[in-house]
Amino acid sequence: MTIRFAAATFWATFALLPDAPALAQNEPPARSRSGETVYREICSACHEKGVAHAPKFGDRSAWTPIAEEGQHVVTAEAWVGVRAMPPRAGQDDLTLAEFSRGVAYMARNGGADWPDPDARMLARIAREVGRHIDERIAELRRMKRELATAR
Ligand code: HEC
Repeated sequence: MTIRFAAATFWATFALLPDAPALAQNEPPARSRSGETVYREICSACHEKGVAHAPKFGDRSAWTPIAEEGQHVVTAEAWVGVRAMPPRAGQDDLTLAEFSRGVAYMARNGGADWPDPDARMLARIAREVGRHIDERIAELRRMKRELATAR
């Protein structure tokens, strides 16, 4: 399981690179789902019962310390994947806006007062995501350089 998610993180990082072939970006968004819909369709698979220590839906003691980190920080970290939380929740067709609403919906149900992100908040989230991606790229470059000495 962990290995599969690590691989998913690796490939998702590449899929997010600006020069990667981004076929999906050329297609018009089919529909933009509400946070509740995103939760029901995707996030509930793990967050309803707390699979692999996912913070459970409605569990205030789990969500309060997460929410204290701040909406843009938590949303960005979850989007790029954290431990057993797969990047992009493992869904290629999920947009950052939809995902962010899904996070806000779960956080609200865990006692946080997070609105669905407006354009300003989405821009903050996107900047934070960019920072995480740069870190991952730097980490992968380090791993690649190490290959040269591993032979
Ligand atoms: C395959 C299972 C799985 C799915 C599907 C999933 N999550 Fe998670 N999620 C996890 C796990 C496991 C964690 C705990 C990660 C950790 O901190 O170790 C987590 C943690 C999180 C966190 C907290 C991150 C933090 O900073 O502590 C957020 C926010 C989150 N998920 C949002 C979502 C949203 C939104 C969706 C749906 C779009 C979703 N997740 C779908 C497994 C999942």
